[in-house]
Amino acid sequence: MLSERLLKALKDQVNFEFYSSYTYLAMAGYCESIDLAGFANFFRVQAKEELDHAMKIYDYIYQKNGSVVLEQIDKPKAEYDGIIDVFEKGYEHEQLVTKKIYELTDIAYEEREHSTISLLKWFIDEQVEEENSFSSLVKRVRRIEDNPAGLYLMDDELAARVYTSNTSK
Ligand SMILES: [Fe+2]
Repeated sequence: MLSERLLKALKDQVNFEFYSSYTYLAMAGYCESIDLAGFANFFRVQAKEELDHAMKIYDYIYQKNGSVVLEQIDKPKAEYDGIIDVFEKGYEHEQLVTKKIYELTDIAYEEREHSTISLLKWFIDEQVEEENSFSSLVKRVRRIEDNPAGLYLMDDELAARVYTSNTSK
């Protein structure tokens, strides 16, 4: 049985994962609007992964006999100042996600709620990959800032990203 405090923190994280999905979908829309369909594809896939993250916690809450009342999702930022700005904001967002996962894990440790700690370990590992992915993409887009050929090559590369769910492991 989860405490009210831990349950509330997990529900907040479900909401934040939905907000993350919304944020990446907004970034995908921005990329579409500047004719970078490959970049848009990258963010669409990212948005789907965030939905999986929300559902992983959602399912866990029900497994622990809790329930989730879905809350309103905040409006995501829609305007960006170019493709570098999009990736910088994406990287900042992932750092914020990591902070929230750490805070949630701190509560689970305080309460010695070992199954929740085990769930959150998956998210901690996932965040290492997410932050690393965004930080290297920020470096790459900065490098090709004034190089349209490089930008379109990268757009082609990101067009190939395919969604696969990794939340079941
Ligand atoms: Fe996430």
